[in-house]
Amino acid sequence: MSKMINIALPKGRLGEKVYNLFEKLGYGCPAILENSRKLVFEDEENNVRYFWVKPSDVAIYVETGVADVGVVGKDILLEQNPDVYELLDLGFGKCRMAIAGKKGEHLPTDRTVKVATKFPNIAKKYFASKSREIDIIKLNGSIELAPILGMSDVIVDIVETGTTLKENDLDVYEDIVNISARFIANKTGFRFKTQEIELMKSKIEKEIAK
Ligand code: PRP
Repeated sequence: MSKMINIALPKGRLGEKVYNLFEKLGYGCPAILENSRKLVFEDEENNVRYFWVKPSDVAIYVETGVADVGVVGKDILLEQNPDVYELLDLGFGKCRMAIAGKKGEHLPTDRTVKVATKFPNIAKKYFASKSREIDIIKLNGSIELAPILGMSDVIVDIVETGTTLKENDLDVYEDIVNISARFIANKTGFRFKTQEIELMKSKIEKEIAK
């Protein structure tokens, strides 16, 4: 008898894309497509239970074992460094982490750099690797405002299409790392449900290789 897999999906576009992929692979849960505010969906036939969680919380649900597996951006993994298995790079949800600031200007070299970001750990690590002193201003969104209003010299943020930067007269100064969606698993859950999770992993692998 196959065991139920608990899956944490990031609310939003990425999560919907992942759900469609999982459904195609036999992990469907039709109730999830009904437009509702429900957060937990179970399908006994396919032995899956889905949770819609805030994208930045997916790794926490998986690390604590509430979810056996989940899909999360590499940006979150680099920032939170959770104790989970990273099983697959899904190859979508692609973007990059970059340093950006006002167009026509550049990173100050003669003083401590003021960096606004949602990703303080990634920023600290990157600037430390360049032996640069920084002050972090931790924000939770609309990061681009900080350099525009003179609160910071630069931002460390996700760039996908580049539209947000462009529309706010900002430019990329340096790329830090490429990002994509990752399939992750809880370490204990993986031991207890090895067969189920390995099967899921190999199905995903085959599908994304097409
Ligand atoms: C993210 C990111 C950038 C934007 C990049 O913000 O922080 O602001 O997307 O995308 P683009 O290069 O395609 O314009 P998000 O939409 O998550 O909102 P936020 O302001 O809450 O961070």
